[in-house]
Amino acid sequence: MKTVRLDKFLSENTALSRSQIRTAVKRGEVSVNEKVIYDFSLKISPDEDSVCLNGEIINNKKFIYLLLNKPSGILTASRDKSRETVLDLVPEEFKHYDLFAVGRLDKDTTGLLLITNDGDYAHRVISPKSNVEKDYIATVDGTPQKNAVSVLAEGVTLADGTVCRPAKLEFLKDDTVRVTITEGKYHQVKRLLGFVGLGVKTLHRERIGSLCLPDNLKAGSITEINSDTAMLVFK
Ligand code: URA
Repeated sequence: MKTVRLDKFLSENTALSRSQIRTAVKRGEVSVNEKVIYDFSLKISPDEDSVCLNGEIINNKKFIYLLLNKPSGILTASRDKSRETVLDLVPEEFKHYDLFAVGRLDKDTTGLLLITNDGDYAHRVISPKSNVEKDYIATVDGTPQKNAVSVLAEGVTLADGTVCRPAKLEFLKDDTVRVTITEGKYHQVKRLLGFVGLGVKTLHRERIGSLCLPDNLKAGSITEINSDTAMLVFK
């Protein structure tokens, strides 16, 4: 059973500041299971306890959506005892949710990664059936084969038999390309670029559907987005 401090629960689920919440609690405006509580550090179970502020039930946000600008060198795994994972970057205030990453970015890949506790949403984003486009910017070396754009546009079968859907390749600068894919097979972008003669030096995801990485979100930082914004991935 997950527990959380009463003041933290109220700050996550109301528009009140922490100090306003503490004042409200001290004034006896908050009850838990119909009993007035004066201790804002009380641990409550958001799934089981009924919290009221001035007689109004405060619902626990069921689903939460976080957007991370993933830095290089961090694993996209759940939790790992010895190595840092993206979940270690989640701010304390969100840690009591059962969070997981939506899909995976390689350890050395940077950029947009969604973190949520909404399993259905994650499943829909990842499923190739949803046809969600993802844009990656890669810096590359090597000489691309002449018809690289059309080869990838037709879809390729990699040496190990992996069949890849059509992908869009755009040359942005001599050493920089944008690749757009609608699935997420193992090392897909690196392998697609390798298929047409390009080695990947850096890889950065900047878009999923209509959801783009905000310019002002620094590497390693996380921002909460509301469900409407999270659903932009399907638009
Ligand atoms: N494709 C890759 O090769 N690596 C990633 O991290 C994501 C897509």
